[in-house]
Amino acid sequence: MDKASAEKRIKQLSTELEQHNHNYYLLDNPTISDFEFDKLLEELIALEKQFPELLSPDSPSQRVGGTITKEFASVKHKYPMLSLANSYSTEDLLEFDRRVCEGLGMKQGEENAIDYVCELKFDGLSISLTYENGVLVQAVTRGDGEKGDDVTTNAKTIKSIPLKLKGNYPPLFEIRGEIFMPRPVFDEINKEREEIGEAPLANPRNAASGTMKAQDSAFVAKRKLDCFLYNVLGDNLPHQSHYENMLAAQAWGFKISKDAKLLKGISKVLEFISRWDTERYNLPYDTDGVVIKVNDYKQQKNLGFTAKSPRWAIAYKFKAEQVSTELQSISYQVGRTGAITPVANLKPVPLGGTTVKRASLHNADIIEKLDVRVGDQVFVEKGGEIIPKIIGVDFTKRRNNSQKTIYISHCPECGTALERNEGEANHFCPNDAGCPPQVKGRMEHFVGRRAMNIDSLGAETIEQLYNVGLVKNIADIYDLKKEQLVNLERMADKSAQNLIDGIETSKQVPFERVLYAIGIRHVGETTAKKIARKVKSLDVLIHSTKEELLSIDEVGEIIAESIAEYFSKQENREIIARLKSAGLKFELSEEQQQAGSEKLKGLTFVISGVFNKHSRDQLKEMIEFNGGKNSGSISGKTSYLLAGDNMGPEKLKKAQSLGVKIISEDDFEAMIA
Ligand code: IVH
Repeated sequence: MDKASAEKRIKQLSTELEQHNHNYYLLDNPTISDFEFDKLLEELIALEKQFPELLSPDSPSQRVGGTITKEFASVKHKYPMLSLANSYSTEDLLEFDRRVCEGLGMKQGEENAIDYVCELKFDGLSISLTYENGVLVQAVTRGDGEKGDDVTTNAKTIKSIPLKLKGNYPPLFEIRGEIFMPRPVFDEINKEREEIGEAPLANPRNAASGTMKAQDSAFVAKRKLDCFLYNVLGDNLPHQSHYENMLAAQAWGFKISKDAKLLKGISKVLEFISRWDTERYNLPYDTDGVVIKVNDYKQQKNLGFTAKSPRWAIAYKFKAEQVSTELQSISYQVGRTGAITPVANLKPVPLGGTTVKRASLHNADIIEKLDVRVGDQVFVEKGGEIIPKIIGVDFTKRRNNSQKTIYISHCPECGTALERNEGEANHFCPNDAGCPPQVKGRMEHFVGRRAMNIDSLGAETIEQLYNVGLVKNIADIYDLKKEQLVNLERMADKSAQNLIDGIETSKQVPFERVLYAIGIRHVGETTAKKIARKVKSLDVLIHSTKEELLSIDEVGEIIAESIAEYFSKQENREIIARLKSAGLKFELSEEQQQAGSEKLKGLTFVISGVFNKHSRDQLKEMIEFNGGKNSGSISGKTSYLLAGDNMGPEKLKKAQSLGVKIISEDDFEAMIA
């Protein structure tokens, strides 16, 4: 393609992709499949690679990330980022309304009802976005309110932040809002972290702000952050009021909460608050209150600011359910990767519909900061987290003889001296080969359904086998003999046979799952799959250089180092050798190897209709495995139309008119055989 046509195509793709983004992330109404979207994006990236001079900073390709920011530049805010005064009760709000009326020279009362805008108070981190001629040029965090960090590259990966605006926007303005991590995203990340033995993220707010501080924007892109905007600032705004400008901003392409309401008078505000006090639990993101703003800019200006916050707005904070109870003891749990988690054992107390007996104390720093001691009355809160947390100590009730909590120095399970890595919050027990919960935890992971899938070997049996000394590591599982098992308690002939059979069957588990099962830290299911497909065998993986590892999709510094560390250990190499001689699969099967061919390189397929042998998704995967491309619609570029039953007549006609070859499922199989 020549440069002029590339430029045209890049423009076309960019517009199309941004529209699809908008449809998906703002309108919640996608019109193409993820797959088709990815294809368009791939095409764009390929063209930009070929013509780097055509890469524009507002290209949708920037959303994929990949730029590393070593240090975020500090930027002074054009308009300081103030915070809001807080309120906690109806009285506080009536008082706010009184001050507003007074400030505007009016008497508080029905006849002088102020136009207020009520918005939810999103619980994330605030961000200020600058748009110049409709293009996002800068994203800055709040920082200390005067200056913040330039996180533009990271912000560009957030799909709901438009890179380019539509319609009639002012030539230069700032828009502010809250970046947050949706609950479902947070839950999924934690589920995955648990699977690969990493400490869970504490809450969506910290997760969002931690993510925005990441140096690698590709990492940010994967974390699926979202952003609501709630304040426009600039000289040429279209309206003289907040609510109308927010509606305008929505038309330019910003994500504005549909729950914001323009209300007349403080009593309507109180109704709004009482509705959302409970309704908020149905939202897929966390909110910690309501923000009330005077709508009219002239009135805002008249009211002005205090040193810290505007007089024309206030935050109402929802009451988090809270109780106080006695901290009876602190215990320390050791996870599969050796991470230590301190847990508070509480005198049971009802809170938010359940009885709370335990609360997380997170790590040594938090214990130190809160100065919690056994015997204290502590305040427990059910916030966004599933496990309740201790938010403070009732010092008025502290006993005279209370002892400062001294964090353990040795593993409560195996007695090894604990360590703590620079920058990590949790201590860990380094005795991974000998610390019982670590060994048993690794075995449980190994036999898990998504790993080796030995369901006849559950946590209890592992415990039993470990206690009697039959298994000390995952390789020992394959040395088990039926005679050894039948003599064990609660083990009959049949269950022993089942266990042996289950272990035998697991030898057929494909390489990618074996790779996940052996439990290399940070190597989750998807990563294991990607690595397996790329390296094809464990031998290649063991001998891969760091650069080679880094070239694999999904593998970054941390994972590469973790892999290297795993194989550098003699005991791990021995375990692998034993698993290998037991017959586990340490390379891709013939079929998988072949699948990774380049037989369909340069060919584009369109799939249509219903098939007998494979699902459409399987066919698509087969095409990609063999180096071919999938496309959603027939064009001059289509090489083959893979046609099943009941295919639409339109497609058929189009293919015929363009001279596209039409093949059946059997023809296709023959092509890749
Ligand atoms: S308006 C001058 N609106 O709450 C007014 N803030 O202490 C600026 N926040 O730092 C803020 N949702 O991070 C506003 N709908 C909303 C908000 C909101 C969350 C956060 C924001 C700000 C803090 C106020």
